[in-house]
Amino acid sequence: MKKILELISEEVQEAFEQAGFDRALGKVSISNRPDLCEYQCNGAMAGAKQYKKAPIMIANAVVEKLAGSKVFDKVEAVMPGFLNMNVKADFLAGYLSEMKADAKFGIEEAKEPQTIVIDYGGPNVAKPLHVGHLRSAVIGESVKRICRFMGHEVVGDIHLGDWGLQMGLIITELKERQPDLIYFDDTFTGDYPKEAPFTISELEEIYPTASKKSKEDDAYKEAAMDATFKLQSGVRGYRALWKHIMQVSVTDLKKNYANLNVDFDLWNGESDVQDVIPGMVAYMKEEGYAHESEGALVVDVKEETDAKEIPPCMILKSDGASLYNTTDLATIMERMNKIHPNHIIYVVDKRQDLYFEQVFRCARKTKLVKEDTRLTFLGFGTMNGKDGKPFKTRQGGVMRLEHLLNDINEEMYKKITDNREVAEEEARATAKIVALSAVKYGDLSNQASKDYVFDIERFTSFEGDTGPYILYTIVRIKSILNKYKEQGGVPADAKIQSPVNESEKELMLAITQFNTIMNNAFEEIAPHKICAYIYELANAFNHFYHETKILVEEDENKKAGFIALLVLARDILETCIDILGFSAPEKM
Ligand code: ARG
Repeated sequence: MKKILELISEEVQEAFEQAGFDRALGKVSISNRPDLCEYQCNGAMAGAKQYKKAPIMIANAVVEKLAGSKVFDKVEAVMPGFLNMNVKADFLAGYLSEMKADAKFGIEEAKEPQTIVIDYGGPNVAKPLHVGHLRSAVIGESVKRICRFMGHEVVGDIHLGDWGLQMGLIITELKERQPDLIYFDDTFTGDYPKEAPFTISELEEIYPTASKKSKEDDAYKEAAMDATFKLQSGVRGYRALWKHIMQVSVTDLKKNYANLNVDFDLWNGESDVQDVIPGMVAYMKEEGYAHESEGALVVDVKEETDAKEIPPCMILKSDGASLYNTTDLATIMERMNKIHPNHIIYVVDKRQDLYFEQVFRCARKTKLVKEDTRLTFLGFGTMNGKDGKPFKTRQGGVMRLEHLLNDINEEMYKKITDNREVAEEEARATAKIVALSAVKYGDLSNQASKDYVFDIERFTSFEGDTGPYILYTIVRIKSILNKYKEQGGVPADAKIQSPVNESEKELMLAITQFNTIMNNAFEEIAPHKICAYIYELANAFNHFYHETKILVEEDENKKAGFIALLVLARDILETCIDILGFSAPEKM
């Protein structure tokens, strides 16, 4: 379906042409003076020079041609040459009816679907998820859903941090505590036990302990590096322990991400590409891309136009060990071979932007990707506390994601049960749904690259630009529709009609933006645009609701028109929040 602005523009372009001017001048935009008109066109001003005519003359000539228009009920030429327009009620109703009849409310899916890989989440195995991982998960999930909604093939990959020194540290600490474990017996050739010799809570305690010790004790650090080396070179017992760590940790991660309504198509990690690294390194050497520098193997990635120095991309350290870069490059190679993406999007902390610049340049230079493969770094800003510093616990430590979510659930539960009788179980379930909207909307409503202040108070409020406000609006619509059913009406049968008052028309106009907004959100990889849209839509609905007697309307036909509009508003709002990665309850 065409965007409403395209339809309107076509009408005005036609008039420009008929009046003897260039069609291109007839481009229409949404009015920036909604008090004066709904749409505007500034083409007459732009054409003045070309036609050596006063803009108002051109505008007047265009107005004349639009006299019998089916689209506009008001077109005015205003000094010095603006065209101000309002659309006809039945034109608007027609457009909305078409939207309503369409499964995607007028969005045309991509004719040539792209294959897009989204690299997000990026947790590190055996380390608990902390608030720093929240943004990647929340933004990445939404970007994945946006791309999918627009008809593309999308693969979400978690890219686990499951290979480096942290593994060696855990194994070292395990050996200190339980030296007799069969995994440390070099002579053992049998099958290792199925059960891990630790639980997730032990694992989560082991890592920080080991990490702390290694910073204070050189011999301990040495041992951890040795354990890492043994693991990476394939020592059986170490590999078996690693598998246990993975299994215990991934089970826990899956539970945590499920609570966030985030799910990945691939649970690949850094470890998955270790086998292809030697081949990749050999290729880079053979083709002359990589050269030695102070013992290390590097690929130069600086360009003449660089304003600041971009250091070479290191492929192997002087001791021959691979690095974070090496793994990311090998992962690109694997993705190209197995998934053939047109586009890879990384949703990672923006402090890694120089790093990704190096990796992308290196991937292009060494032809790991095709010339037209897009590589995008969607760097996000920091989630700060009210003091403007990175979000911490009250004691000043790193906040675990689980604890943060619990706090918000609790806060929401309090609000829901405040002054009201609600069954415990129901209140808990509702609190969980609403809390997720608070967290996700609070994050997504900011442009991803910006830092934002995580403000529980504000995010959980039922008023203002918040997730709970959006849910509250949806629930309000649902409740009206239920009452309509109780009166014997059938919402699904109701047909869109011409608006009967200003607030209804405003709501309808807001709804028509869906197509434009979704396209922009996709093109610019910008979930915050969808938030801004649903906030405006919710405001428009609530205004309409306060201005209009819906259920007590006596004219059944008119009432059905309201109901049809409510159904459409609810469906679009629910579609949008699903794309943002949360949902609405039935009641709240
Ligand atoms: N595990 C990394 C970290 O905690 C993030 C991974 C980001 N993705 C990537 N392909 N490098 O910093």
